[in-house]
Amino acid sequence: YFQRQKERCLEGKKVLITAGPTREKLDPVRYISNFSSGKMGYSLAEAAASLGADVTLISGPVHLHTPVNVRMIQVESAAEMLDETLKHFDNVDIAIMTAAVADYRPIDVASKKLKKKDANLSIQLERTEDILYELGKRKKHQYLVGFAAETDQLEENAKKKLYKKNADCIIANDVLEPGAGFGTDTNVVTLFKRSGEKIPFPKMEKTDLSYRIFEQINKEIREEND
Ligand code: CTP
Ligand code: CA
Repeated sequence: YFQRQKERCLEGKKVLITAGPTREKLDPVRYISNFSSGKMGYSLAEAAASLGADVTLISGPVHLHTPVNVRMIQVESAAEMLDETLKHFDNVDIAIMTAAVADYRPIDVASKKLKKKDANLSIQLERTEDILYELGKRKKHQYLVGFAAETDQLEENAKKKLYKKNADCIIANDVLEPGAGFGTDTNVVTLFKRSGEKIPFPKMEKTDLSYRIFEQINKEIREEND
């Protein structure tokens, strides 16, 4: 651990990370969201800061402490998260999208609390902005990392996201696997690079995994500059 800390391999680098879920309002007291705990993103932010990076963390609502030496921006909805992310993207070297952004939001947001009426209720939803996709379109010098939460056909789905969103790598986890995914302190992931290289990591603490991920990103950035 001390060894890792000593190595300030991200000194001078600016890192942008999104984390946690988003909340999409239905009325003043209700929202649509998901089970994301934010642990992976916060852990990456903490690792990046301790490796010497200038870190900005854009987070949806979670129950975690802000890591030290991290610039924190709290948001609620996908639209707010996109706004804040775009404000910072031009100025960063590495952008990592770990947030579990809600894919849909209610089309109408009621200004007053909805009252219950019939036995069934249908709510019309519309797609939210895809933040990673938007960054992929705007990408210049940045190294762009996406995550992929999958329950099946991990490799195929992860590679689709890699190319569709113009990311430089995708870190995929099988959310149904024990010790992986939402809410856990450990994760089991495979990293897919654009070169076709595929790096499976064994089950490990999200803290340790964060350092291993930056090791890979650093390798990629150095190769690009060679
Ligand atoms: N993502 C994003 N904005 C969204 C949805 C996803 O930035 N509106 C990002 C996530 O932060 C992650 C990657 O895209 O880095 C993949 O997210 P995921 O939910 O696995 O994929 P989707 O493209 O949303 O596809 P689906 O949920 O249908 O599998
Ligand atoms: Ca999604």
